[in-house]
Amino acid sequence: MSEVTPRDREWMAEALTLARRGHIGTAPNPRVGCVLVRDGHVLSSGWHAAVGGPHAEAAALQALPPGGNARGATAYVTLEPCSHHGRTPPCSEALIASGIARCVVGMVDPNPKVAGSGIDRMRAAGIEVTILDAFPEGRWLNRRFLSAMERGRPWIILKCAVSADGFMDPPRERGEMGSLAITSPALRRLTHHWRAEEGAILVGAGTVGTDDPALNVREAEGPNPLRIVLDPEGRTMADRQVYADGHPTLVVGGPQELPESVVRLDANSQDALPLLMEDLMAREVRSVLVEGGADTLGRFLDTGLWDELRLCHAPQRTGGGLPAPSWPTGEDALLRGEHPFGADRVEYQVHPASAAWVGTLCPPTLSVPLP
Ligand SMILES: NC(=O)c1ccc[n+]([C@@H]2O[C@H](COP(=O)([O-])OP(=O)(O)OC[C@H]3O[C@@H](n4cnc5c(N)ncnc54)[C@H](OP(=O)(O)O)[C@@H]3O)[C@@H](O)[C@H]2O)c1
Repeated sequence: MSEVTPRDREWMAEALTLARRGHIGTAPNPRVGCVLVRDGHVLSSGWHAAVGGPHAEAAALQALPPGGNARGATAYVTLEPCSHHGRTPPCSEALIASGIARCVVGMVDPNPKVAGSGIDRMRAAGIEVTILDAFPEGRWLNRRFLSAMERGRPWIILKCAVSADGFMDPPRERGEMGSLAITSPALRRLTHHWRAEEGAILVGAGTVGTDDPALNVREAEGPNPLRIVLDPEGRTMADRQVYADGHPTLVVGGPQELPESVVRLDANSQDALPLLMEDLMAREVRSVLVEGGADTLGRFLDTGLWDELRLCHAPQRTGGGLPAPSWPTGEDALLRGEHPFGADRVEYQVHPASAAWVGTLCPPTLSVPLP
């Protein structure tokens, strides 16, 4: 097996930059980039832009200049080229047919349909294949896909807006309904962007009852995530927007009568989350953004069933209201990042066990994506 050279790592970094362009739209597929290099020069490159569209390797081969070819080249691919006929033909075969001499792979694809068979095929065809020994940036980029493949559950992000004195909701008049924003409109746009990035968005029965949220993407570009409501006791009313607006929702429990756009999952309070995770895997949902409220977030925090925490700190105090659950602080929260956002402040945390699983002690992309 050939050694990984510093130059290999540089080309792989370029392939990873391309993979990042996939962003929203590749799910449930991973984000992958590919660079074809010969004699120290890039012949062409590509990335997987959208599910159903060409994979990165096919995109790079298609981007070769007219009359050009990849014979004798090295392909740098952030994830093992696939070997199965999925929505598109197998990339390992396309690379073999292209005549490349070497393929440097960022990581083996844990998808059981691939799991080393793309590498085996290329080796059997005489291509020299080198696999990076560690690729934490690539794993971080595809943490949602990898979580589903390796841990059998989606990547879970907890989001919480909190006032300077620690409340998630201001004091309400008796029976007062609707969402009462704590953070600024600019930060709300950012959170809509976050919604578009994830496969599903989840809230508890209390939030549906009080806020009647639409839980869609209105203030950013991108697809709506699947809405999930945890209501094992059937406390919510069927006239809530998440049930009545005709768009898909998955509800654990829920009201007795539901329209066709709503799928019910029968579970009790004890087995709600394990059953939900199983169901989401079957639906190829790779990530869940948990938006509240306090009780729901608290339960995820208490059981340790979370990977990222995004705390949106508002500068003003509410002087009472709904107390936010307690989150890790001090030494328990070593993996933190903080970003001012206008008058607000976003605090990120990565669960230490999740960071260790990804393979990095310092997640490299703890940046706030701009709305
Ligand atoms: N600041 C923010 O970021 C933010 C975001 C969203 C909401 N909020 C506010 O939060 C308030 C609502 O919060 P809340 O604490 O009253 O209620 P909630 O968290 O929205 O809902 C709690 C209910 O959801 C169900 N549930 C939650 N986790 C579950 C689990 N793991 N398994 C089974 N069922 C589960 C339970 O229903 P059962 O008890 O029926 O079993 C539980 O009582 C609203 O006032 C809203 O404005 C604030």
